[in-house]
Amino acid sequence: MTFRTLQDADLKGKTALVRVDFNVPMDDGKVTDDTRLRAALPTIALLSKAGAKTVLLAHFDRPKGKRVPSMSLLPVLDDLATLVGKPIAWADDCIGEPAMATIKAMKPGDVALLENVRYHAGEEKNDPAFAAELAKLADIYVNDAFSAAHRAHASTEGVAHLIPAYAGENMRKELEALELALGKPHRPVLGIVGGSKVSTKLDLLKNLVTKLDKLAIGGGMANTFLYAQGHDVGASYCEKDLAETARDIIRLAGQNNCKLFLPLDIVVSEQMAAGVPTRIRGLGEVDEHERILDAGPETVARLKRAMANSKTLIWNGPLGVFEIPPFQRGTMEAAWYAAQLCREGKLIAVAGGGDTVSALNAAGVAVDFTFVSTAGGAFLEWMEGKVLPGVEALKI
Ligand code: 3PG
Repeated sequence: MTFRTLQDADLKGKTALVRVDFNVPMDDGKVTDDTRLRAALPTIALLSKAGAKTVLLAHFDRPKGKRVPSMSLLPVLDDLATLVGKPIAWADDCIGEPAMATIKAMKPGDVALLENVRYHAGEEKNDPAFAAELAKLADIYVNDAFSAAHRAHASTEGVAHLIPAYAGENMRKELEALELALGKPHRPVLGIVGGSKVSTKLDLLKNLVTKLDKLAIGGGMANTFLYAQGHDVGASYCEKDLAETARDIIRLAGQNNCKLFLPLDIVVSEQMAAGVPTRIRGLGEVDEHERILDAGPETVARLKRAMANSKTLIWNGPLGVFEIPPFQRGTMEAAWYAAQLCREGKLIAVAGGGDTVSALNAAGVAVDFTFVSTAGGAFLEWMEGKVLPGVEALKI
């Protein structure tokens, strides 16, 4: 993978248009998780120190080409200024006079944030005229938004062809970690794919069984595989219409020498609520009113052995309904053990996808993992083996 990084750039006195992902969770106009703001800090610090003007460009939500006041980026400005440690200039539009005037008033080392790029219809259409308007603002373009790189939009793709384009620090770290996990990994490589639906992860499973040495399937989607193998899943969530697809994936894994781990035992309950009584069941022992809500102890023990015998772990999706105790146990135990192996230098562990990050944060181990991606959809598309337009555009 070859792409220009900021280490290759002459930055002094330059204006850098930096695509970041500030599509952060917000409640009542307040940022509730600033992970994505923090992810932009190394690039901002590097550019400021080198004497460049840093002009941040981002989307928020999906305003579909119109100015929707509730989707303004203005509410992130104060949090960002606190994290950066200095005031940040603001432009009420990301192109034209408001953007130009803000940039003109900046001094080298200053930082500005532009209003939501998706207020313009040209953004999602990757309109060349709109990309040219963006390119006019700066000498160089920096893409630091891996999590938006699956979109072929003007600010993630089009503009990269118009002025010299570089990967920002967050983008560089993401790409290096992903290369370590799937590109040229230390083998054996173990994957964990969980979450509720097989239907949203079909392409991912089909790609992974051709790349990995071992793949553990957990969460609600494992129910579909158990059902496909003839086990009764009681009242559990299950995509019965995908039984044949699940059998295809099992066959494909066999053809590619990917060892597939399906649950050996499961934790069930009649209700999915905090503190309810649970039972551990073997396969085929689930009553008609019971729901499978977590991986059982034998399943987790085997997964831990598989981790100990692997050099690389790639993880997307929880093993159970980790948000509701007592169904968090399988996910937590697996996370703690992976973190321990990472700390001991025995495992490279890369994780990504919204729920996975929340689960690792809940387990308190995100810092121990080799890399935790801030991306949702982009991480999944990358795991599916798809080309990410925002990354392609940075390649030399
Ligand atoms: C995300 O939150 O995953 C990215 O910011 C992409 O957002 P989108 O799905 O609205 O393109």
